[in-house]
Amino acid sequence: MLFICHYLLLLLLTRALLGSSTTTEWATSKLATVPLALRSPYLNIWIGSSTTQQWPTLWNKQNVGWAGLVRVDGVSYRWQGNEGGANLAQIVPNSIEMSPTRTRFQAVAGQVQLDITFLSPIEPTNWVKQSFPFSYLAIDVSSRDGQKHNVQLYSDITGELLAADFAEEVTFSTTQTPQSIWHSLQRSTPSPFLETAEKPDDGTLYLAARSSQKITWQTGSCGVTRDGFNEGGTLLNKKDPNNTQKIQNIDSWACVALAYDFGNITSTSSPAIWALGLVREPSIRTATATGIQLRSSYFWTKYPSIDLAIDDFLTDFEEATRRAQALDAKIMANGSAISQSYSDLLAFSARPAFGAIDITVARTSRTTLDSSDVKVYMKDVGTSSRSNAVDVLFSAFPAFLYLDVKLASLLLEPLFEFQSSPLYRNNCSASDLGNSYPDIKGNMSESTLAMEASGSMLIMALAYARKSGDGTQCQRYYNLLKNWADYLSINALNNNTFPTSDMSGDVNLALKAIIGVQAMSSINKFLEPQGASPADTYMYSNKAQILIKQWTDLAWKSDHFAATFGEPSSWSLIYSSYADKLLNTTLISDNPGSICTIWYWFLFSLREQYAHTATVDWTMLTAAALSDAAVSDRMIESVHARAVWPKGIKPWPTLYDASKHLGISGYSR
Ligand SMILES: *[C@@H]1O[C@H](CO)[C@@H](O)[C@H](O)[C@H]1NC(C)=O
Ligand SMILES: *[C@@H]1O[C@H](CO)[C@@H](O)[C@H](O)[C@H]1NC(C)=O
Ligand SMILES: *[C@@H]1O[C@H](CO)[C@@H](O)[C@H](O)[C@H]1NC(C)=O
Ligand SMILES: *[C@@H]1O[C@H](CO)[C@@H](O)[C@H](O)[C@H]1NC(C)=O
Ligand SMILES: *[C@@H]1O[C@H](CO)[C@@H](O)[C@H](O)[C@H]1NC(C)=O
Ligand SMILES: *[C@@H]1O[C@H](CO)[C@@H](O)[C@H](O)[C@H]1NC(C)=O
Ligand SMILES: *[C@@H]1O[C@H](CO)[C@@H](O)[C@H](O)[C@H]1NC(C)=O
Repeated sequence: MLFICHYLLLLLLTRALLGSSTTTEWATSKLATVPLALRSPYLNIWIGSSTTQQWPTLWNKQNVGWAGLVRVDGVSYRWQGNEGGANLAQIVPNSIEMSPTRTRFQAVAGQVQLDITFLSPIEPTNWVKQSFPFSYLAIDVSSRDGQKHNVQLYSDITGELLAADFAEEVTFSTTQTPQSIWHSLQRSTPSPFLETAEKPDDGTLYLAARSSQKITWQTGSCGVTRDGFNEGGTLLNKKDPNNTQKIQNIDSWACVALAYDFGNITSTSSPAIWALGLVREPSIRTATATGIQLRSSYFWTKYPSIDLAIDDFLTDFEEATRRAQALDAKIMANGSAISQSYSDLLAFSARPAFGAIDITVARTSRTTLDSSDVKVYMKDVGTSSRSNAVDVLFSAFPAFLYLDVKLASLLLEPLFEFQSSPLYRNNCSASDLGNSYPDIKGNMSESTLAMEASGSMLIMALAYARKSGDGTQCQRYYNLLKNWADYLSINALNNNTFPTSDMSGDVNLALKAIIGVQAMSSINKFLEPQGASPADTYMYSNKAQILIKQWTDLAWKSDHFAATFGEPSSWSLIYSSYADKLLNTTLISDNPGSICTIWYWFLFSLREQYAHTATVDWTMLTAAALSDAAVSDRMIESVHARAVWPKGIKPWPTLYDASKHLGISGYSR
């Protein structure tokens, strides 16, 4: 599962604010990979720390041809990408900084310094802004010697994000409105709702800037536009007469470019700004009981055309920056109350969480949307194309509870709706909505993850109801929740239903199931004012109490929890205890927790000797559940070490070999 670590936000929900710190940035010079533009499952761009000698890439290391040049006093330098023909700007050592919404670094080119900011806004509760899949690049220039210098800036992008096969043709177009100028690139023959090698086959890529005297533009071959800029500092304001070209044509790449000419300056009065976007419309196709439904990104409820949306996004830059600064400060201050390392990890994890979702509304006809029908879809970015995968969502859920609680319920809604339709017949919960994102076909099979999913759904449904005070979703899907609780009551400790695919072991899984049964009691209690029977509240609680007693007898081995029933020497991080703490189900708080944390401590100190596979999300969930701060801090440190470790591989592995400190799979399990 992807996702790097949106789940890190979860600690915030379980630990009180202890103090505050002024740190708001993470100096990331040690990081192998930093996020640049993460705004949707498909606009998900990263770069290694030697930005002048590498291309930005998708999370899976496939190049994205997004180049950056600057020309100073007639000499051109490259600040991003790996295209020849220019000098290298010098990245200022230790200048790379990261906050939850922004990555920034400084570069020196001739006698000027560039301050380069990549802003991927996170816009809690504003779904128009959150769902607009565009990201900002902003550059401030300042003289290093106090003298004026002649400065031009350039950025371009190819169609590499739009297809796995670069023999595919793309069509360009360039549009000028009074406010903006923008290029688009689109497959000549798009394949709706398909992806290949994690890239969308139906995307339209945009590169945009505010209209200004300083701007010049061009489309055509990258070789031509980059050479033209390097030589003359401006572009020709000209479309390539052949507006349909292969993404790669022998040795040339089809390209769209925008450049700024600042003339002789000591510093820019306002930054050069580009907006990079990747739009898919409609964005989701989903199977419902009444047939196929098409869904569009939420921002279309406000904008009749992309022009107006782009104009607003560009005009909003200064305000968006202020909102981002405020949000970053809030998240980092909350994180610093736990530890500096935790705060660092939040800076790394917020964008991947919000960048994995599509906020959508139903498209009722070619021209009309039903803005009352909002649902949110999440791709298992980094591992698979599963949609709203319950195990992934469970780990990410705290981020949404913390930043925009309503999104938490809208992420559950497609799962609930599908399973309450005649398309689904099992008494246990589905583990996802199929594995063909963004084509949401549903998953009718009784999954090997059924126990895990049923427990997680009950836990998440209650967590949302508690945090928001809104019981309507639980009430609407009451029968479904009850089915799952009944299934768990029967199967929680039934040897025959233990799946083998849950790496955390059956002890942990059984605990999640029992917490799920207790969650049903609490859901029932929550709904008593609406007529739910107090007898059921009691019945589920009673079942959970009986089960937890049996579980403890089977799982507790004098000084630790076994991972597998009947194997006393096995051990595991009992990450399900996080749910007990989150929901205050008080099922395991009476267990000998202090001994348990001593055991974890022991394991961490001996870790070099354990060839054990560790996962970032389970480690963090366990850390959040422990009452012993020294042990949970140690766990956070281990994850932090992992985030900076994997030189040369994909971003931040979520699965790693704890004994060797190696990432096993990058940005993925
Ligand atoms: C335009 O480009 C396409 C694909 O790269 C090529 O097949 C076609 O011949 C070109 N057309 C012209 C007029 O150059
Ligand atoms: C910038 O300064 C150079 C050198 O002093 C001068 O030749 C050039 O005309 C100036 N350009 C502009 C646009 O003022
Ligand atoms: C985050 O910080 C704010 C401001 O200090 C505080 O009000 C809030 O309770 C904190 N939130 C969490 C989850 O710790
Ligand atoms: C679901 O539970 C009901 C009632 O207990 C039972 O009749 C039905 O056979 C079950 N369905 C499946 C698919 O197990
Ligand atoms: C349904 O879920 C199962 C278990 O997680 C998985 O093996 C299967 O591939 C999924 N089916 C579809 C159609 O997505
Ligand atoms: C499962 O079966 C094994 C072996 O038959 C037994 O030792 C163990 O206690 C059983 N576990 C549970 C939870 O019933
Ligand atoms: C947690 O539950 C216990 C008993 O079930 C109750 O006494 C306590 O007040 C609850 N704590 C919170 C924070 O709700």
